[in-house]
Amino acid sequence: MKLVRISLLVACALAAPLAMGQNTAKIKIGLMLPYTGTYAALGNAIENGFRLYVEEKGGKIAGREVEYVKVDDESDPSKATDNVNKLVKRDNVDVLVGTVHSGVAMAMAKVAKDTGTLLIIPNAGADAVTGPMCAPNIFRSSFSSYQPAYAMGEVAAKKGGKKAVTITHKYAAGDESVRAFREAFEKNGGQVIKDLNLPFPSVEYQALLTEIASLKPDLVYTFFAGGAAVKFVKDYAAAGLKKSIPLYGAGFLTDGTLDAQGADAEGLFTTLHYADSLGTPRDNSFRLAYAKTYKLQPDVYAVQGYDAAQILGIGATAVKGDLSKKAEFATAVEAAKIDSPRGVFTLSKAHNPVQDIYLRQVVGKENKVMGVAIKALADPARGCRM
Ligand code: PHB
Repeated sequence: MKLVRISLLVACALAAPLAMGQNTAKIKIGLMLPYTGTYAALGNAIENGFRLYVEEKGGKIAGREVEYVKVDDESDPSKATDNVNKLVKRDNVDVLVGTVHSGVAMAMAKVAKDTGTLLIIPNAGADAVTGPMCAPNIFRSSFSSYQPAYAMGEVAAKKGGKKAVTITHKYAAGDESVRAFREAFEKNGGQVIKDLNLPFPSVEYQALLTEIASLKPDLVYTFFAGGAAVKFVKDYAAAGLKKSIPLYGAGFLTDGTLDAQGADAEGLFTTLHYADSLGTPRDNSFRLAYAKTYKLQPDVYAVQGYDAAQILGIGATAVKGDLSKKAEFATAVEAAKIDSPRGVFTLSKAHNPVQDIYLRQVVGKENKVMGVAIKALADPARGCRM
């Protein structure tokens, strides 16, 4: 009799949180990011931004404490499927957050789609993940390759350049960035006369810079990021090209890189969904909190990490922490106005940010806002059926 009463008590205690509709176990978050290699600084900034949001919420998401499981993906697509499977199958994470490199992100999206695991992409631009690979459980807090590049195509054509050469790493993000630049540049009367590229993550730019000098275009458009962007901007200036052929880029070229690029970046024009001098109360308080916590200035990657956590927070709160309710999670996120340091944005039906793309210019150690290149730009989500 006594035994029955005790087991009844235990059963009630176990059922109580569920009866109240609240799961109290820790949320396991798989952070799959580059912590080594050319994109290492980007991975760290994303994690910092993500943790900052969670700390602002008392270390919890929807009332559940958070546990992180981290994997260094090395920006290596050949290791990506194994890495993501470890997080999903061995560590049983509730949600995947990653990554920076588009090739790795596509492997993550495939596993997320096959297993139904929630995935929030805090950087990688691969058009496919909110295009043909789009899925109800896949979200992006950053941008598609198309967005900053398309905006720069318009800007560059209007700034008077007729003939452009493009240069980038040969992989999805680079190819897509160049394609979207060309689409807008040629629609606005320009012509891309040559696409140059080199394998990721090579930074052997010399032969290509020599080719640019002999092609003599009106301007160069480029997609490089992280350590590769630092070296490209320095090599471009050292080759004497900065004075003669204006260099334009998707904003990654000068984001999180200005300390290392120094005077060689001064004056460069780029387009991106963030800038250093927005001056809004929301951005000011974010920048202050980030600088206080990490003794570092935030960049676009920090913002994207912060907003990945916001997306998780919005969805998880709507389902009272029960992340198995994927459809309700998605409905809440789809309806949300996300209060980002970049400015408020919404997610498209394909779950990619609809956002303003700023024109920025490097002034000292800042990517200063010169205006909005395109307002509320949505990715065309070509191939997404959802
Ligand atoms: C990408 O691979 O999609 C990528 C990498 C670095 C960036 C932006 C995009 O800064």
